[in-house]
Amino acid sequence: MITYESAEDLSLKIRHLQDKSLKVSFVPTMGGLHEGHLALMKLAQQKSDVVVVSIFVNPTQFGQNEDLNKYPRTLEKDISLLETLDIDILFTPSVEEIYPSNDLESYELGFLDTILCAKTRPGHFNGVAQVVNRLFDIVHPDIAVFGEKDYQQLMIINLINKNRKDDIKVISHEIIRERDGLAMSTRNQYLSFDDRENAKKIYQNLLGIKTDFLRGIDLDSSIKKAKDNLSQFSKLDYLEARNSKDLTDIDNKTDEIILLCATYLGETRLIDNLIFRRKNV
Ligand code: PAF
Repeated sequence: MITYESAEDLSLKIRHLQDKSLKVSFVPTMGGLHEGHLALMKLAQQKSDVVVVSIFVNPTQFGQNEDLNKYPRTLEKDISLLETLDIDILFTPSVEEIYPSNDLESYELGFLDTILCAKTRPGHFNGVAQVVNRLFDIVHPDIAVFGEKDYQQLMIINLINKNRKDDIKVISHEIIRERDGLAMSTRNQYLSFDDRENAKKIYQNLLGIKTDFLRGIDLDSSIKKAKDNLSQFSKLDYLEARNSKDLTDIDNKTDEIILLCATYLGETRLIDNLIFRRKNV
């Protein structure tokens, strides 16, 4: 694995590879790697000749009272995981390399930046748009891979990618879960023993809503029941059902529904989602 810290050197290397008709895929991360990240990388390996992974804890996507300073920085462990997977290129830029000027762009993200996580984390998705655009400018991959746990982020990345002039194909990987159903996340390691025990109930409650719905039970009432359950051990931010295509509200013609949830266990904010199809549509 070759590691680059310089954006210019990495860009040159990738141009060189693409000139030789090699297909390059890109998996941006903030480190703290786990099986969920590795699944994205394995998918990238299947789809391309060369895989580039970045590790960069992006300050602009953290709010003032969020966990930027305590966000896990586990570079050595991350590098060994990347080596086990035989990743070709690692990019570990500094903040100055990503943001050489203080004059940062502000993105118009429309409706997607008014709902769900955007309400509790104002400015978060603008920060994601800043870093992803900058990373795409540097790497110019043929393919970029993102996880579906951050579903709203994925929708926003699709939107910014549509507004770009290059032809990057964004693909996604389903959520990877622990054995008890908890969606894998770098932030799971913050959880106390009791919170970790309770955290598995997030997915159980999402599954409960889906099961109820497919049995014909009214969605609003099973969402309410799940909200009550989740509120017993966590501070619920939101639990909503939306159209998986564009995150608009559902109606009785919506064929694919996504349940999205964010909740705080102690200080730790966890998100999860579950997609399912309406029967007979
Ligand atoms: O999903 C993440 O890990 C981050 O939001 C991303 C896409 C790497 C941007 O910093």
